[in-house]
Amino acid sequence: MEVQVKQIRKHFGPVKANDGITLSVPAGAIVGILGENGAGKSTLMKILSGFQPADSGEILLDGKAVTLRSPADAIRHGVGMLHQDPLDFPPMRVVDNLLIGAPGRLIPRRGDAAQAVADLAGPLGLTLDLKAEVGSLTVGERQQLELLRLLWLGARVLILDEPTTGISATQREQLFGTLRRLAEQGKTVLFVSHKLEEVQELCTRVAVLRQGRLIGEALPPFRVDKLVSMMFEREVTPGERLSCATGDTLFRLTDVSAEQGRIKLDPFSMDIHRGETIGLAGMEGSGQAVFLRSCAGLVATTGGRIQLEDVDLTGKNYHHFKKKGVAYVPAARLEEGLIPGLSITEHVLLTQHKPGFFIDRESGRKLAQQRIGDYNIKGTPASPVESLSGGNQQRTLLALVRPGAKVMLLEQPTRGLDIESVIYLWTKLKERCNDGGSIVFTSSDLDELLRYSDRILVFFAGKVSGPLDAKTTTVDQLGYLIGGRDISGTGIFDETDPVQEGGLDG
Ligand SMILES: Nc1ncnc2c1ncn2[C@@H]1O[C@H](COP(=O)(O)OP(=O)(O)OP(=O)(O)O)[C@@H](O)[C@H]1O
Ligand SMILES: [Mg+2]
Repeated sequence: MEVQVKQIRKHFGPVKANDGITLSVPAGAIVGILGENGAGKSTLMKILSGFQPADSGEILLDGKAVTLRSPADAIRHGVGMLHQDPLDFPPMRVVDNLLIGAPGRLIPRRGDAAQAVADLAGPLGLTLDLKAEVGSLTVGERQQLELLRLLWLGARVLILDEPTTGISATQREQLFGTLRRLAEQGKTVLFVSHKLEEVQELCTRVAVLRQGRLIGEALPPFRVDKLVSMMFEREVTPGERLSCATGDTLFRLTDVSAEQGRIKLDPFSMDIHRGETIGLAGMEGSGQAVFLRSCAGLVATTGGRIQLEDVDLTGKNYHHFKKKGVAYVPAARLEEGLIPGLSITEHVLLTQHKPGFFIDRESGRKLAQQRIGDYNIKGTPASPVESLSGGNQQRTLLALVRPGAKVMLLEQPTRGLDIESVIYLWTKLKERCNDGGSIVFTSSDLDELLRYSDRILVFFAGKVSGPLDAKTTTVDQLGYLIGGRDISGTGIFDETDPVQEGGLDG
């Protein structure tokens, strides 16, 4: 289906999120929607999928002007949006989940639905266990479920807003294969992403937004550096590899084991040094998140010892860890990290540890303004966090980490950030390392892990291998380990680390 938008405008107070966007996408195209954080991508996608109305402008589908008053309305017109955080209902079975939103059927017939979905899934190369509970599916499988549901409801235009965060490389390949097949059938795909390699691989055209305007379009072959300079109006290059690691132990783990849900972490020992950055690699659900949470005191350890400098933190709770200088930043921005409805100032006030009864709003506002400047956040002290763009929410979360934190545990700290912001953020983080802090972080981006870590731990099914020396490890080696392949004996493990003798399981 051909999609056209004409002069779409959407303002939020003084912010011109969409400032007269005109764009035309032919049927069968997979168009990459690019642009820096806050450029207006999600705003445009939400308008196209009926989640919010434009202030003015026109949407035409196959040449006909339409008004999309709600997501249900949009899907009736054939436009469906796949959200980054799946909107499904975890305790339900897959088949029942599909039936939600099925049009005009009071008592939908499960058998019919199952058959219809199976008919759709097969040719797309997807297999879905309809009897499974949704809660037991991985993020990637839930995404496939949502995609099939939209197709079953008749979607001919599919909008995907940053769909590849949190899914495995295999699932991504599968998703891309599916999208290509859908495009061959004449369906139109709008693909919002900050991952330019993916855009290069998948998209048949690209549209770049900046400050609410369409500033350019491109056709393949795409060059990543060209796309970057279109997005930022200049070249962006990551700086030198920076290491601030010292030989001084800051955080010591001795035979630490933990368990959460299905994941059981085997006993693990490691000394993390002052100034050091440790990257945690692994597919979603391989144990790295449990590891991070155990280090934060959020998941009780089942054995072993955790020490920060000379303080024994073993068995203490999160608040105690925090008081002693351990900071934790979760990946789920609006579920665990930020509180919807509260402004940046209010968040800053909440993270202050000043004794006293009265809340000093004015100093809170000043501090918020300062952090906004420091972290280059597009927003004001009074902005409620849910009004910030995805990337700016992420910056806010990191800006809230207290300056004095000694160990920073960061779950996917750069998720959803544009390339320039990733570089900027790591400059800020490395400054903290330079002041003697340590960072432990997870990322699904292997290049990021290799570039910014000193050492890397790889997780597979609750087993930890490494640490690897990031300087001498390649993307391929890391990829193998993440997939559970054994490459011990290939000499890539950091032999000098005492942990090796501790019997770290590979
Ligand atoms: N509901 C809202 N209230 C106020 N401002 C908003 C609202 N939604 C979006 N904005 C603002 O509009 C601008 C564009 O936001 P949008 O979410 O479209 O950006 P984006 O291109 O998707 O960025 P990102 O890559 O960070 O996700 C931002 O400055 C954002 O703060
Ligand atoms: Mg967005």
